Amino acid sequence: MSNISIVILAAGKGSRMKSPKAKVLHTISGKPMLYHIIKASKEISDDISVVVAHQKEAVIEQMSLYFDDINFIVQDAENFPGTGGAMKNIAPKNEKVLVLNGDMPLITADALKGFLEIEADIIMSIFELENPDGYGRVIIEDEQVVRIVEQKDASEYELGVTSVNAGIYAFSKSVLEKYIPQLSNENAQQEYYLTDVISMAKADGCNITPLVVNEECFKGINSKLDLAHAEEIMQDKIKSAWMNAGVIMQLPSTIYIEEGVVFEGECIVENGCRFTGNTHIKESHIKAGSVIENSTVINSDVGPMAHLRPLSHITDTHIGNFVEVKQSKLIGVKAGHLSYIGDSEVDEGTNIGAGVITCNYDGIKKYKTVIGKNVFIGSDSQLIAPLIIEDDVMIAAGTTLPSGKIEKGSLAINREKLRTIKDFYYKFFGK
Ligand code: UD1
Ligand code: CA
Repeated sequence: MSNISIVILAAGKGSRMKSPKAKVLHTISGKPMLYHIIKASKEISDDISVVVAHQKEAVIEQMSLYFDDINFIVQDAENFPGTGGAMKNIAPKNEKVLVLNGDMPLITADALKGFLEIEADIIMSIFELENPDGYGRVIIEDEQVVRIVEQKDASEYELGVTSVNAGIYAFSKSVLEKYIPQLSNENAQQEYYLTDVISMAKADGCNITPLVVNEECFKGINSKLDLAHAEEIMQDKIKSAWMNAGVIMQLPSTIYIEEGVVFEGECIVENGCRFTGNTHIKESHIKAGSVIENSTVINSDVGPMAHLRPLSHITDTHIGNFVEVKQSKLIGVKAGHLSYIGDSEVDEGTNIGAGVITCNYDGIKKYKTVIGKNVFIGSDSQLIAPLIIEDDVMIAAGTTLPSGKIEKGSLAINREKLRTIKDFYYKFFGK
């Protein structure tokens, strides 16, 4: 671990997102933006502070689901708005302080390590953009950074500058202690800009070193369009890593895989599939258009167009088209077509016919269905939970099974005798 403290600015409203949700809580690959930044930060530092204000309870609550050692610092956003105001109450432990905007979810620990290798009073990240819209412009004279101008304060000439502030800085603690209290809010947004520290420090002869960084990792998210672009970049990374680890993907651009999903062994994923939560897929074939949410699939085939909802565990099983499974455990089962299997346990050798439905909900509570080994459930049967079907049972097609228990080895059938009325069709239509 390095001797660097990290401060992540996550207190802003993010008005350009046009959303009731705090910007840093918008998700990319299934996790809030801020999660991705903290995760990268933790790889290089164990002193991490996150500055919060707007929707601070929600931000703290969500981050606490993932991390238990973050210092949350509350910004006085009313009296001291802006990225400089956000730095007022920080108390970093180390002499070097890395400051990150909270809207850069593509940042990696490797990219942050670049800031550890340079000695300077201030290191600031810069990239060149053909279209610098939205970013602070970095004014460089004689190869020295002299100041940063925010877009809203920029002159015509400054707007044409294509070197922009990427939004990550390493400061020595003494620079922050000296200049943060001196910031003013005399600018277009009437905010305290952290970026003004640069020109103040420059005037006092501090050493300010620019670090040219890769635009992709340092992309700031200000709008929902930026969010969608960042999602594409992160998805590319996630899928490339899994393909390099041995997963076969057909048309990977149509596949969505969240951070936290794990593949093991040789898996095949066809086009249009979606994997979320802590899904684990091992030695399995997931066919086109299937959705797998927070579930485990081992040595099985699923789909096309199947939906495994959270907490399903499927082993040695065939799940066919238009089958929905929820919070169920299936081992050695065949469910080939058009079924709903919810809150169930189904054991080896059991065949679930087309259109079988577990009726797990009575409008108030959910109930379990337990199905034993080698059970044959005829098509279009309804199984009303709570229900136990013991081993070696046959359920005739079209049976409605009431709650209770079907004993081992039985046949269950509740079909009415078929009636046919000869020539009824011709009489009815008068033909
Ligand atoms: C900022 C920089 C700009 C840079 C860009 C890079 C300033 C003044 N400008 O602009 O030079 O090119 O990032 O992406 O710093 N925040 C707070 N408290 C506040 C306001 C913002 O914590 O009062 C946080 C936000 O939650 C956000 C981060 O600071 O995570 C950056 O704020 P944002 O408003 O997005 O700054 P930009 O206008 O993008
Ligand atoms: Ca931003």
